[in-house]
Amino acid sequence: MTAPVRENLSGLDLRAEIERLRKERNAVILAHYYQKPEIQDLADFVGDSLELSRKAADTDADVIAFCGVKFMAETAKILSPQKTVILPDMDAGCSLEDSCPPEQFARFRAQHPDHIALTYINCSAAVKALSDIIVTSSSAETIISQIPESQKIIFGPDRHLGGYLNRKFGRDMLLWPGVCIVHEAFSETELLKLKAQHPGAPVAAHPECPPHIVDHADYVGSTSGILQFAKSFPGDTLIVATEPHIIHQMELALPEKTFIGAPGADGNCNCNICPYMALNTMEKLYLALRDLKPRIEMDEELRLAARKSLDRMLEMASGTVGKGDLGRA
Ligand code: 13P
Ligand code: SF4
Repeated sequence: MTAPVRENLSGLDLRAEIERLRKERNAVILAHYYQKPEIQDLADFVGDSLELSRKAADTDADVIAFCGVKFMAETAKILSPQKTVILPDMDAGCSLEDSCPPEQFARFRAQHPDHIALTYINCSAAVKALSDIIVTSSSAETIISQIPESQKIIFGPDRHLGGYLNRKFGRDMLLWPGVCIVHEAFSETELLKLKAQHPGAPVAAHPECPPHIVDHADYVGSTSGILQFAKSFPGDTLIVATEPHIIHQMELALPEKTFIGAPGADGNCNCNICPYMALNTMEKLYLALRDLKPRIEMDEELRLAARKSLDRMLEMASGTVGKGDLGRA
C-alpha cells in the first residue's frame, strides 16, 4: 500500500488550495459516487463508470484528476491520451481487476475461439485490449440486447453481474470467476433483519451483489440507476445495497428521506466501504494537482488496442443515460 502523506499539510486550507490548483492547471476533477463526501462535494462531476468515461472523453481540460480507482483513470487516459491523467493514490485498485490477470484471460479466450469477450470495465487496460466489447453496469443491458442470441459470449471478470445478465436475458455466457469484495460482503441474514425492522422499505442493489442479495431487491442497477431510483421511489426509507458513500448524494437530493446502508456479516462492520476508493483523500488530491503525479502512463500500442473495445461500448451504449438501465431482476 502507498505510504501515508508525510508532508505536514495541517496549516493549509486544502479546499482553497485545490480550487487554486484546479484553475492554474486547467484541471477537471472527476469523482465516482463511492468517494468520500468532501471529494464528491468539490468535484466538477460525480458519476458512474459510464458517465465518467464519457466526461473523460469530452473534456477540454488539460489535466484530469480522477478520484476513483485505477481502471477508471486508465479508461480516461485511453480515451483522452493527450491529457495528463492523475490519480491521487496509485494503489487504488479493484478486486475484480486483480481477479483477472491478462495472461490467464488470454488463455481462457484461446480455449473458446468461437466466443466473443464482453468485459466489465472493472479490469486492466491489458484485459480491455483482449476484449471485444466493454460494458459498465449501466450500459450492459443495452449492449447485450444488441448481440444475437446465437453468439457465444465470455463475460468477465464479475461473475455476479454476468450471472445476473444471464438470468435476465436467458443467456448462458461463460463467466470468469471474479467478485467485488465489497458487494460480496453483504449479509442476507442481516438484510432480512433490517427489512423486518423497516417493513415496506424497498431495497436497491448493485448487480455486483451475489444472487442471495439481488433476490431481495426491488430495484437492481448501476450506481446512477440506484440514485435515480432513490429520487423516484414513493416511500420515505430506502435500503441501499451498494458502497455506502453513494448515500451522500441521496441525502443531498432528498434530505427528508432516510437511506440505510445494507449491513455486512456482523451487521455493523465497515466491510462495505471500498478500501481502494477510500485511499483517495483531500491531502493526496492536493498533492497530485500540485505535483501532477501519480500520473497514468500507457504504452501507445496497448492504449490503441484497449480503445477499440471501449469505443465499441460508447457506440453501442449511445442513448444509455446511465440510469436504471438494468431495472428489476
Ligand atoms: P458503476 O458503474 O455502477 O458506478 O459501478 C462501478 C463500481 O465499481 C461498482 O463497484
Ligand atoms: Fe472494485 Fe468493488 Fe471497489 Fe467497485 S466497489 S472499485 S468493484 S472493489
